[in-house]
Amino acid sequence: MTRLLINIDHVATLRNARREAFPDPVAAAILCETAGADGIVFHLREDRRHIVDADVERLRALVQGKLDFEHSLDPGIVEICCRTRPHLATLVPERREEVTTEGGLDVKHHLGPIHDTVLQLHDAGIGEVALFVDPDLDQIAAVPDTGADAIELHTGEFANASTAEAQTHQAGLLADAARLAHQHGLAVHAGHGLDYRNYPAFARAVPHVAEVSIGFAIVARAVFCGLYEAVRDMVRLVRHPY
Ligand code: PXP
Repeated sequence: MTRLLINIDHVATLRNARREAFPDPVAAAILCETAGADGIVFHLREDRRHIVDADVERLRALVQGKLDFEHSLDPGIVEICCRTRPHLATLVPERREEVTTEGGLDVKHHLGPIHDTVLQLHDAGIGEVALFVDPDLDQIAAVPDTGADAIELHTGEFANASTAEAQTHQAGLLADAARLAHQHGLAVHAGHGLDYRNYPAFARAVPHVAEVSIGFAIVARAVFCGLYEAVRDMVRLVRHPY
């Protein structure tokens, strides 16, 4: 069964918008777990625009399910991840000017630095390292050479598809990518832009998905119906997508 990990960065974005101590993303993480989430995801960005270092320490201490620390190849942040020792580290590209992560890693062209970072994370005792990649078969084929254990498929293009045909096309690319990753023995995770509407089509089309990472749709729904209910709704959908 696919596991649901919830990204709580947007709770921190709201807190930081007023430079307040609330809403607390760590309290949100605990509530997400109480409502049935299998784990929590956070992205420590180089500019600390949402999650900050103190959150990381508290998340490590208080999250009971799977903890996914998402970050770039920046040596300072990699060092923090090594010290934190989450269950999973997910490597993502990062540009300061982007609103959110805009695409997958170019694994083929950055094989050396990615390989060295994966090694450093494994040596620190982190059991699972994933690479965030677009559904591009050449990129997926390069992942085993990095030593990574998993991929996280970038579902942004699928989520942004504006017609049924475009959505079907994107789902097909994700399905092919998932099959290839599975053949290589990699675990398949997925995320970005998945929501209450598009999840069933995603789940129907894409095989081998062990884990999804969903944030914005859940926090946005929580504004209207509360975080507990928003999480419950997504837990139900991921467990019974059709
Ligand atoms: N996976 C990665 C690598 C991301 O950068 C994000 C966005 O922070 C997500 C998943 C979750 O995306 P969303 O907030 O759109 O659900």
